[in-house]
Amino acid sequence: MWEIITEALIYILPAYIANSSAVLFGGGKPIDLKKTLKGKRILGDGKTIRGFTLGLVSGSLTGVVIGIVKGNPKLALLGFLLSLGGLIGDIVASFLKRRINLKRGRPVPILDQLDFIFGALAFGSLLTVPSVDIILFIIILTPLAHLLSNRAGYWLGLKDNPW
Ligand code: CTP
Ligand code: MG
Repeated sequence: MWEIITEALIYILPAYIANSSAVLFGGGKPIDLKKTLKGKRILGDGKTIRGFTLGLVSGSLTGVVIGIVKGNPKLALLGFLLSLGGLIGDIVASFLKRRINLKRGRPVPILDQLDFIFGALAFGSLLTVPSVDIILFIIILTPLAHLLSNRAGYWLGLKDNPW
């Protein structure tokens, strides 16, 4: 049980780091350059070039460290794929949210928490397909981890609301 959880967390860690680095370090020029599609923003101001780039770099570096620790260079490439996939998954979700007229930052529960996971798993699977139990643990643990980290951020005064 604990082995599967640890394995799941280590597998998905580069995507977690990529996604949270985009939130922490993001800002500036939006990826869609403020362009619209049929009168609606393509992605919105919440998806920035800096967030994407720094997310990709941090997630990939995480993969390099995991590769070194585990003595398997393939894990560095896996980290890059998981990070890229995660960031793209998040972008795809924003694209869909704008199409149904949701303004930047409006919540869509489950989609907001899992968009990057589906992207990461899709891209990561190009190299290594994890076992079904690992995939299930990742999908169950991620919304919980989100909830807990948002609570922690609220208690620490970093966020205005606990969700
Ligand atoms: N962020 C970024 N670049 C990215 C992803 C995230 O700069 N590629 C930053 C933005 O400051 C964004 C914040 O992280 O506002 C939170 O990300 P997210 O919740 O995914 O974006 P939202 O602002 O909620 O926008 P959306 O409605 O499009 O999901
Ligand atoms: Mg959001």
